[in-house]
Amino acid sequence: MAANQLVISPVSRFGGQLAVPGDKSISHRYVLFGALAEGTTSIVGLAPGADVASSVACMHAMGATIHRTGPGALEIRGRGRHRLAPADGDLDCGNSGTTLRLLAGVVSSHPFRSRLIGDASLGRRPMRRVIDPLSKMGATIASRDGRAPLEIDGGDLSAIDWTPPVASAQIKSAILLAGLAAHGTTIVREPLPTRDHTERAFDLFGVTHDSRPGYSAVTGGQRLIAPTGVLRVPGDPSSAAIWAAVAASHPGWWVEITGVCLNPLRLGFVQALSRMGADVRLTETAKAGGETIGTVRVGHGAPKAATIGPDMVPSLIDELPVLAASAALGGGLTVSGAEELRVKESDRISSLALGFRQLGVHMIEHPDGFEIPGGQRPRGGQVDAHLDHRLVMAFTVLALSGTGSTLITGADAVAVSYPNFHADLMHLCK
Ligand code: S3P
Repeated sequence: MAANQLVISPVSRFGGQLAVPGDKSISHRYVLFGALAEGTTSIVGLAPGADVASSVACMHAMGATIHRTGPGALEIRGRGRHRLAPADGDLDCGNSGTTLRLLAGVVSSHPFRSRLIGDASLGRRPMRRVIDPLSKMGATIASRDGRAPLEIDGGDLSAIDWTPPVASAQIKSAILLAGLAAHGTTIVREPLPTRDHTERAFDLFGVTHDSRPGYSAVTGGQRLIAPTGVLRVPGDPSSAAIWAAVAASHPGWWVEITGVCLNPLRLGFVQALSRMGADVRLTETAKAGGETIGTVRVGHGAPKAATIGPDMVPSLIDELPVLAASAALGGGLTVSGAEELRVKESDRISSLALGFRQLGVHMIEHPDGFEIPGGQRPRGGQVDAHLDHRLVMAFTVLALSGTGSTLITGADAVAVSYPNFHADLMHLCK
């Protein structure tokens, strides 16, 4: 098999227990906060993919002392809020939108120029959503027509009261991170509540804030203090979702995923799978770093046609591709209010539709979503991942149920969040 290609043959059995990699969203935040904090932050269970490595490299380039103390374990000696140093060259965010947008918030308060760059996929993604509020706060930001590279001249910032045009935890977090160094109280009012890992990390690092679903406020001038003890990153629900989506596809298939972050703002996929008729069980097992952790067990149930509307979208935006694939094999799915899918690592509506078509699966595209009839049988074939890890996962769900084998090109993209993907796939297909 050539590098960057994945060949998947259909399987008749699927099942097992596993733990998935650490949560990517939480990992980014712990790394950024650790670099901004006073003292040493110890983190274990960090997401192993390239995305979080980009955040680590950027914080290292800005003067944080970072030691790898074991697999997925880091010790970060922070520089203190407002005390990062200018990087020698560009800050390369790779494929990671979270790195670029959150970092934009961080460097906006630093009195020097930073240049944030990324790969071809990141260079296509919209950045006005962070440029506008951060400019209003006082940063000077040059871009390529609202896209990366971003050249940011940071400095003295003033607080804002901002209602982002779209519900996005990345926008909210960029503004709150800038707000930490701004004069006054910065408020973000969201059209719909989004994941609250930044706010939970504020608690861990001693930052006072006023937050409830859809509303977050932070007053500038606060110090971040490295937490005592070790921060443990729980398993990534978005990585758990791929195996859950496969397990729901056929009678007798199952999976049990341990150590998963059960943050309610991340569990839309669980609710969606239940609506689709899957047998889903959650068991809480622990608390860590302000998050609830538990086991997700999924098996096949009685497939039903399901609908996902705009209110649910922020809680399952990253999981929609694998849910779409599972629904094609099951009872079908209609999704609306998900236009954000078009500005992810790829245009996930049109690249899914194209890829599904190449595998013999019908999907009707809408500007803000899609419809997938149920009861379909993919035929296998060749399909490209468009630099998008979530597409590799969605095509894998279909490939395991194909009538022939499937060749996924560009499959290395999966390593941005799940480098061990192939090994875990083999484990579950044994
Ligand atoms: C993320 C927020 C979401 C999500 C992304 C990670 C985060 O993006 O899709 O994978 O860590 O804040 P948006 O904030 O753009 O919706």
